[in-house]
Amino acid sequence: MSEIIVRTSSKDYSIRIQNGLLEQPGRYAARLISGRRVAVISDETVAELYLSPVLKSFYQAGFKTASFAMPAGEAHKNIRTLERVYEALYAAELTRKDLVVALGGGVVGDLAGFAAATYQRGVRLLQMPTSLMAQVDSSVGGKTAIDMPFGKNMVGAFYQPQAVLIDPLALRTLPRERLADGMAEVIKYGCIKDAELFSKIEQQRADLEWMVDRSVRIKAAVVRQDEYDTGERMLLNFGHTLGHAIERATEYTQYTHGEAVAIGMRLACRLGEKLGVTPEAVRPRLTRLLKQWRLPLHVPPVELSRILAAVGADKKHLGDKLNLILLTQIGEAVIRPLTREEYEPLIAEVWTEALAETAADGRTAAAASAGGGSVQ
Ligand SMILES: NC(=O)c1ccc[n+]([C@@H]2O[C@H](COP(=O)([O-])OP(=O)(O)OC[C@H]3O[C@@H](n4cnc5c(N)ncnc54)[C@H](O)[C@@H]3O)[C@@H](O)[C@H]2O)c1
Ligand SMILES: [Zn+2]
Repeated sequence: MSEIIVRTSSKDYSIRIQNGLLEQPGRYAARLISGRRVAVISDETVAELYLSPVLKSFYQAGFKTASFAMPAGEAHKNIRTLERVYEALYAAELTRKDLVVALGGGVVGDLAGFAAATYQRGVRLLQMPTSLMAQVDSSVGGKTAIDMPFGKNMVGAFYQPQAVLIDPLALRTLPRERLADGMAEVIKYGCIKDAELFSKIEQQRADLEWMVDRSVRIKAAVVRQDEYDTGERMLLNFGHTLGHAIERATEYTQYTHGEAVAIGMRLACRLGEKLGVTPEAVRPRLTRLLKQWRLPLHVPPVELSRILAAVGADKKHLGDKLNLILLTQIGEAVIRPLTREEYEPLIAEVWTEALAETAADGRTAAAASAGGGSVQ
């Protein structure tokens, strides 16, 4: 078991990481709120697997329980589902002393978190993340949001929970691709802050509970220093500038977030190499690790102009300059602000090279399937 305290301007709260925690949230909730009601928001997949033990634990701890399961998936992280959640909270007669529990992946965490932030101007929130992405990233840091037709995460709030309860055993039922998706973020933490985490994953000596613990500590420390995402927290964007651009340019249909970040991290290494910041030995190590988790390495055949447009669209929120996150070595990152005149030719060069690599890889794969060589 480990406990990490997150200090923020609005409150301090604890993140507990413990195998088997999904079966005992009731005893912790009793310490967090003075109310007697709990509404558990989940999705249909997670509800089927974990809702019963969670409700049982709250019931045994003396709470009145209610639950709502939304359909699973990003497509439902929208204002219609949010309205149904508000209705469920109203039907459960939840008051500001009571507790909303977000039981599920990042979609449930973001949506139920935003519902808690806004229902009756804010009710208590307990995060119980069940996907690796949610355990190491979305449940920590207090960002909540829903998607709008004009963009992802466009409406939301910073809203810190009363506590986060993480049960690494829940990851046993997570499909392999989803695990790999979250691993991209774990690898990212290794890259920017934790060389030991990186090398233990390389040597396959890290178990999930330990990796979750290390990752959460890094995110919690960064959030503590920069609650509202203006400085240090930018380091968490390593691999995300081009990762987001790839997601956007492929209309969020071709890659999961972690997959796009995996591609983006390799590209960020190339950018760093060109700027003389990242040593050449870094990229091969990263590549081997991403391969180990069967994460994609190559860029999709998307035209440069679409990538630059997507980078530009993302950048609007950040002001004039683009803040590139670059590695000085495994375990250490720096922020390099570049003007448009500086970053456009650089990205152009790297994207063009990466497209050539994609084409070469396609030829190797075709030769291999025709009975020729092997793909390394
Ligand atoms: N708030 C933040 O800081 C932040 C950070 C990163 C990501 N996010 C958001 O998180 C979302 C992505 O999260 P995600 O990858 O967890 O997606 P998700 O919530 O859709 O979960 C992925 C899938 O796994 C299933 N699942 C979850 N836990 C499971 C388990 N233990 N066993 C079996 N199946 C399980 C879900 O039902 C779903 O089908 C995005 O909307 C993204 O914007 C937010
Ligand atoms: Zn991410």
